[in-house]
Amino acid sequence: MNKAVRKAIIAGNWKMNKTPNEAKELLTQITPLVKDADCDVIACVPYVDLQTALDATQGTNVKIGAENCHWEKSGAFTGEISAEMLKAMGIEYVIIGHSERRQYFGETDVTVNKRVRAALDAGLTVILCVGELLSEREQGITAETVSLQTKVALQGVSAEELSKIVIAYEPVWAIGTGLTATADQAEEVCAIIRNVLADLYCEKCAQAVTIQYGGSMNDANAAELLSKENVDGGLIGGASLVAEKFAAIVKAASV
Ligand code: PGA
Repeated sequence: MNKAVRKAIIAGNWKMNKTPNEAKELLTQITPLVKDADCDVIACVPYVDLQTALDATQGTNVKIGAENCHWEKSGAFTGEISAEMLKAMGIEYVIIGHSERRQYFGETDVTVNKRVRAALDAGLTVILCVGELLSEREQGITAETVSLQTKVALQGVSAEELSKIVIAYEPVWAIGTGLTATADQAEEVCAIIRNVLADLYCEKCAQAVTIQYGGSMNDANAAELLSKENVDGGLIGGASLVAEKFAAIVKAASV
């Protein structure tokens, strides 16, 4: 982390977990544990939990995000939720391009870009996920893969709008597997992403962007990962569903 130039952000990604009642219970446990955090704290929750989550975190330092959004404002898109709808209900953040959406729901770099554009237009802050498959790492094309994902996702995004973009580097082989990238591997790729941003925009612009690591980050490995210069936070799946574990990661980012 380099808090002198950019924000540290710990975000939970609850995925398809927790009913509204369970969400209220978990957030009621989390909020007192993270109230003194010296980093931004976000919980990204299923659509049906959003209102409950907003209510449960009102007046606290925990912000709420969604896990996806559609690129159209409204229309005949059965089952979809627009960025405008999220904004209208008071949501500030949205995860876009998570590898599970790429893997299971046909998300491509091009549709990621359309969603990013829509989210920015609606005034949301985007947590943009990029990351290589195990096969891509083994083929030695990690840098190429994350560079391409980053470049395409940010097409049409201006330097000014970069302040509303957080990037989460999530190696797909480390998500939900218990296999964490080493701190050095995380640092290497986060630095590559920052270089891509410097090429696309400017060095100072790139330095200001928060780049998180995600993939089996937990209370035991967070401090080491966050000690790296270019790892500015975490996108936390499994460990965000346990209040004490999530709070311990927030604490590790608060040093
Ligand atoms: P994990 O998930 O922490 O359970 O590996 C991270 C993510 O998918 O964002």
